[in-house]
Amino acid sequence: MAPMRNKWKKTAIQRLPTSGEPFDGPVGSLVWGRIPGQPWWPGITVDGQDCGMPDISSDHKWVFWLEDRRVSKVQSKWVQHFKDRYSLYFDSTRKGKIYESAVVQAIKVYAKHLGHESGKWTNKQALKWADGGFQQNGVRKVEGVTPVPLSHVIQDDLQLIRKCVERSKQNNGSSPIKNSVQHGKQNNEPSRKRRSSISSVSELKTDVQYDDLAKVKSGEMSIRRLCLGCKSAEVKIVGEHPYFEGSLCKICMEALKKHCFEFGDDGIHTHCAICSRAGRVYVCDRPGCCKVYCTPCIEVLAAEGAKMLIEKMQPWQCFLCSDVRPTVNGIITPRHESVILSRITALFSLDKIPLFCGDDLPLSEDGLPLVSSNRKNGLRVLSLFDGISTGLFALDKLQIEVEKYYASEVDGDAINVSKLNFKDKIEYVGPVETLNLRKLKALGRIDLLLGGSPCTELSLANPVRKGLFDTDASGSLFFEYFRVLVTLRMLQGNCMYWLFENTAAMPCSMKATISRYLGRNPTVFDAAWLSAQHRTRLFWGNIPGWGKKVAKCNVKLDDCLIPGLNRIAAVDMIRTVTTNSNSLRQGKTMTHPVRMNGKEDTLWITELERVFGFETHYTDTGNLGISKRQQLLGRAWSVHVAVHLMKPLQSVFKKRNTKQGYRRVII
Ligand SMILES: C[S@@+](CC[C@H](N)C(=O)[O-])C[C@H]1O[C@@H](n2cnc3c(N)ncnc32)[C@H](O)[C@@H]1O
Ligand SMILES: [Zn+2]
Ligand SMILES: [Zn+2]
Ligand SMILES: [Zn+2]
Repeated sequence: MAPMRNKWKKTAIQRLPTSGEPFDGPVGSLVWGRIPGQPWWPGITVDGQDCGMPDISSDHKWVFWLEDRRVSKVQSKWVQHFKDRYSLYFDSTRKGKIYESAVVQAIKVYAKHLGHESGKWTNKQALKWADGGFQQNGVRKVEGVTPVPLSHVIQDDLQLIRKCVERSKQNNGSSPIKNSVQHGKQNNEPSRKRRSSISSVSELKTDVQYDDLAKVKSGEMSIRRLCLGCKSAEVKIVGEHPYFEGSLCKICMEALKKHCFEFGDDGIHTHCAICSRAGRVYVCDRPGCCKVYCTPCIEVLAAEGAKMLIEKMQPWQCFLCSDVRPTVNGIITPRHESVILSRITALFSLDKIPLFCGDDLPLSEDGLPLVSSNRKNGLRVLSLFDGISTGLFALDKLQIEVEKYYASEVDGDAINVSKLNFKDKIEYVGPVETLNLRKLKALGRIDLLLGGSPCTELSLANPVRKGLFDTDASGSLFFEYFRVLVTLRMLQGNCMYWLFENTAAMPCSMKATISRYLGRNPTVFDAAWLSAQHRTRLFWGNIPGWGKKVAKCNVKLDDCLIPGLNRIAAVDMIRTVTTNSNSLRQGKTMTHPVRMNGKEDTLWITELERVFGFETHYTDTGNLGISKRQQLLGRAWSVHVAVHLMKPLQSVFKKRNTKQGYRRVII
């Protein structure tokens, strides 16, 4: 049976100060809720049964997040009454339309409940009324946390899930969702009441919604008019879905951008590949894929009865990994692989972010930016956060003459790896913070500034990430890169190439901040397009040609295994390797990716080096443990990607004239 799992936003409660008395109000209460690591956000408490989720104990609540349109399990102490805590939790300085819209929606619902005709209020009016103390209209009296009627947005989402639950009740006695609902019903009287109180409204809405789907299914309406996220044609479409035929509305597009590179600790995606919602999901069994699909999407978009078929399939390969089968796919039509690549890339480069400045270099006749040296000199590089010098390794592979390679790095083991491989070719310049104006001036001309600052504090995988602005945390090192970039530009004009890299799994707001500072949007790149590993990263820079289509490579994991020892790859491609040794295990079963003499075996460190594009023993300094070597690789760039991104420099800078590269020869 295809695996199922529940995924909620991750929590790390113990790292946060407590907020107040645990919330004890009834289902349907307007609240502020908080997932640790995230700001307080307005929501409404819902019954698990209303959306197909299991019952939970009283120290947790199910909260439906307004505008975000997802449900999370939240500790009761992180749920607080909306009106009572409004002045404390509403952050009027916080930017973002979705946040404001969520708060306004909550205010309007509350105001309506107090007898106001709030439907037509502007955002300004609603916020003003709330600031004025939530004055009630007429004699209607509302006490504390009395539940308020659910808004249409909530009804839309909850009823979609609920509809599925009802369907599975009719069709399938063994559905896990059905079981959990029935179990809840027997034990939980108030829940049942809540269910019946929304059913009359949702029936009507369901018909309207499924009308759109029915029209698409019958061919009456093009799927391009349908938002695959909210399954409606009555929303404003803002773009096409990158993976499947169909479109997305603004909210669903934002959700997709936010979550499409988000993975759990097990390397499996956290959100549905179609609608980007979390919850109860089916996991693709192809280890290299790791995509998940939520039950509502499978229920309403796949063919009739497909859910049961999928549950029986052993293994189940998802809609993107297997051929289209009308009996399963329904209206889920995957796009061609090459189209997906370009759409994912376009998704990030089309962002209309106001940028502080651009630094488009003057172009030569062949479309390449002119640098001060006016080409065909050796390249002078400054590499910040140099790690194991993947930048130099790639330039060496490209046979570009590197006149000078300055590196800033603080990890002694990483420095040893680089020194051992490149001897005196690298000149270390100390921690990045020490690169003041005087030091930078002393370096002389720099043609290329490289850098990928630490991503731990930016990554969505870290629920307690500190972000970019905590000056005590490594996330703020991005600003060191920015400072050096600006200083070098000031010293030598706009005549320099630069490349900045970071994880793709960072919140959209951080991407936008980095883009504003760097003056351009990132290009997304997955090492899977060129090698046998997934490694999705964002690249900002001014080296031309990044938007060009990549010819997909056919390198497979088998090609990276040590030959002659009967080692066979169990997967074609490994998932993103991190500094955690578990990241070398694959898929939901967390198996090793190699079989040797018929038995499961771990990927050897030398093989991992080859997967990254290094040579065997690149990180072997003589006495460095396997786990430290994996950590160094887990932070590194993919050589294949670095080579691809810097290849255009070949026609600008001198070719190395010695056959022997800069690397030592390994004996
Ligand atoms: C994401 S890794 C970059 C790895 C590199 N791109 C590679 O391919 O190996 C970030 C690196 O920044 C280094 N680092 C952290 N703080 C630093 C600082 N203050 N100055 C210079 N490097 C620093 C870390 O040791 C780490 O190697
Ligand atoms: Zn939508
Ligand atoms: Zn979905
Ligand atoms: Zn798949």
